[in-house]
Amino acid sequence: MTDGSSPARSADRRAPAEAIVRHYRRNGDWAPRITELMRAHGLDPRDPDAMAPLEQLHLGGHDATRALADWAGLAGGTVLDIGCGIGGPARTLAHAFACDVTGIDLTHGYCRDAGALSRQVGLAARTRFACASAHDLPFAAASFPWVWTQHAAMNIPDKRAMYAEIARVLQPGGRLVLHDIVAGPGREPHFPVPWASTPDASFLLPARGVHALLRAAGLRERVWEDLSKHAVQRVRDARARMRAGEPEGLGPHLLQGAEFLEMRRNLARNLEEGRVGVIRAVFEKA
Ligand SMILES: C[S@@+](CC[C@H](N)C(=O)[O-])C[C@H]1O[C@@H](n2cnc3c(N)ncnc32)[C@H](O)[C@@H]1O
Repeated sequence: MTDGSSPARSADRRAPAEAIVRHYRRNGDWAPRITELMRAHGLDPRDPDAMAPLEQLHLGGHDATRALADWAGLAGGTVLDIGCGIGGPARTLAHAFACDVTGIDLTHGYCRDAGALSRQVGLAARTRFACASAHDLPFAAASFPWVWTQHAAMNIPDKRAMYAEIARVLQPGGRLVLHDIVAGPGREPHFPVPWASTPDASFLLPARGVHALLRAAGLRERVWEDLSKHAVQRVRDARARMRAGEPEGLGPHLLQGAEFLEMRRNLARNLEEGRVGVIRAVFEKA
């Protein structure tokens, strides 16, 4: 019996970076496809509010990002976004919360897309992106008052290293805001899922294991919320809307190929069967 803080598969395995990057880049560049889709729907590709529903690669989309920032009390300040994807959350924090955001991501093409999209919506001065791993952050100690991460930890095998790096780059009194998928009490997830085509790119810990690693890194809980039941309810509501013939709005699902339908179905099933859960939290560096 462990406290759940060791990844179920290999204890100190470094990122199987190739499998992860292959998974996220399977459909090529995002920036031109987002621009094209916006034009096709009569939207102005330079409008950050119009782009917001298309650029957030996590459960709950743009609404979840805004709700998380409100909940964490973010209002201005310098933020490091770990696993920033194509920069959706970073642009929301810059545009709607007056933050100055640096995003890092393992997937080089995502950093390129993120930069291009920020330039397109006029947010290049307040968002910047670099290719780096959460295991080894290219920043000096105590560089940031805020660290933000949404739906990236599930790809990161060495979460002890990730949280130690976060604690290192946070200023004393600085805060980590996280929103992540965790292992549920049920059995192994069904694959593929939106974060991994195959199990070798997925590294989930139970919530209590995440909590233990954060505390071991020298971070203190401010708030913690298990969103799993809420996520299951969202799945059921979305299914009911689909059955009633309601058209689905614009979202990143339109840009992720036919296989994404299966990934999304598996995620819904994994949530309903307790194979995965969802948490959000704010931790403070002592
Ligand atoms: C599901 S996406 C979420 C992107 C973004 N946070 C969002 O919510 O829109 C997960 C991201 O984590 C990145 N990632 C995976 N492993 C990483 C690592 N070791 N270091 C930095 N980023 C990583 C992936 O490249 C991908 O962009």
